[in-house]
Amino acid sequence: MFSVSAVLRSPFGCRLKACAALLLLGFELRGDFQGSTHLVDLENGGIRYSQETSSGPIAQLAARLRGGSARLEWDERQGWLSALLKSLAITQHSQLLVFSKTSLQRDFIYPNHPRALYFNDTSYVGFIPGAPLIELSEVDSRLGAVFFTLNQTKSDHPVLKRVDSCLECHATARTLGVPGHLIRSLETDTQGVVNLATGIDPIDDRTPFAERWGGWYVSGQYGKMEHRGNRMGSDSFPAKLTLSLGGDRSSLGSSVLMDNYPSGGSDIVALMVFQHQVRLHNFITRLHYMAVQNLEAYHHIEYLKSPIESLVKALLFSGEAPLPAPIRGDPAFTAAFQAVGLRDRYGHSLRELDLERRLFRLPCSFLIHSAAFGALPPPLKKRIYERIKTILDAQESPEAFHHLSSLDRSALREMLSDTLPDLPEGWGQKPVTRSKSE
Ligand code: HEC
Repeated sequence: MFSVSAVLRSPFGCRLKACAALLLLGFELRGDFQGSTHLVDLENGGIRYSQETSSGPIAQLAARLRGGSARLEWDERQGWLSALLKSLAITQHSQLLVFSKTSLQRDFIYPNHPRALYFNDTSYVGFIPGAPLIELSEVDSRLGAVFFTLNQTKSDHPVLKRVDSCLECHATARTLGVPGHLIRSLETDTQGVVNLATGIDPIDDRTPFAERWGGWYVSGQYGKMEHRGNRMGSDSFPAKLTLSLGGDRSSLGSSVLMDNYPSGGSDIVALMVFQHQVRLHNFITRLHYMAVQNLEAYHHIEYLKSPIESLVKALLFSGEAPLPAPIRGDPAFTAAFQAVGLRDRYGHSLRELDLERRLFRLPCSFLIHSAAFGALPPPLKKRIYERIKTILDAQESPEAFHHLSSLDRSALREMLSDTLPDLPEGWGQKPVTRSKSE
């Protein structure tokens, strides 16, 4: 972490504009940005969020709809939803149901009539039965999250419209100060109205399970795992945080008007993947912005050591809460999620799920293969790769990476060198172990 005085002592001096940029870049960030309250400057220092066009899959579909080379089919019950999911290659089995009144069209959300979210690696779709808008977001490799709406009215020319005012909630401390995605865990009353005083916000891979998923439905098998999902009303939230209900929930049939939705649940495995990728997408965007702005102001990224370390920790699942019980989700989601992705020489991918001890078989995010990671400025990516190599090659893992067994480390070394074409020279070679007498 760099300090104000270090910057003032910097050999490059500190022009007023550069200092202002630095303030915006945030040297108040804590280790991993949690608690950071300021927004990165979205319009200056090389970013120009509102002026740049987005190039992700939703922007591309919007252009094809405008040009007439794509069509969406209207459905009397769910409007444009199914056609959109199909056009964006998002499986309906990624469905998550959130009943807290936390988002834009909250007046339409009730516990028996929740908001549904669908996602893949690059796109997110939000649908509330009967609400006027479908809400969408995509991950653009330069801009981070970009937001769109589609009116839920039958038309020959449906229009996917980019809407930057969504940043009111989607570019705050909760999204690491950049245009990003959200997941919160909040207690609600029986109507879905949240109690802001008791929230755990945002939640991520490290959040203890007992604190996760307030305001969300959770389906699947999870044995004795305790969590805050599926419950509402003060009686179901004892003053003591530890909750004792746990249990399995293969169907949500009695709580939700399921006919309104294309899929039948709010899958625990999909929820965990969503929660992981939301944080990683935000992290990657944050580092991208910081690197672009540092390179513009100083022509180097020396000040980003601490944020880089934080990103590497997030990529390698440092501090991941261990699963309290094995979990099983909807086989259709599990199969669809694992079917794609780059594979190493043995046919393994970073998307292989573990679900016994932890979420993934190998503790490195599959988003290291994403276009957004690939598009990070080269000096930044090089630093990240070098740091990962040091961690994987160390005789003993540094403390934050003790969870990486020697098997994990050698499997990861192989996986990354087989699947990342832009690794620095010599990256995949195992270090020579020297004897003590040498
Ligand atoms: C009042 C705050 C608020 C506003 C304004 C808002 N959102 Fe969100 N949005 C949320 C919250 C909170 C979540 C997390 C899930 C939840 O609680 O429903 C979310 C989640 C989403 C998601 C799922 C992916 C993710 O980021 O977690 C999409 C897609 C989305 N919003 C689209 C939009 C669009 C499009 C707009 C603007 C038209 C918008 N949102 C405006 C609060 C907001």
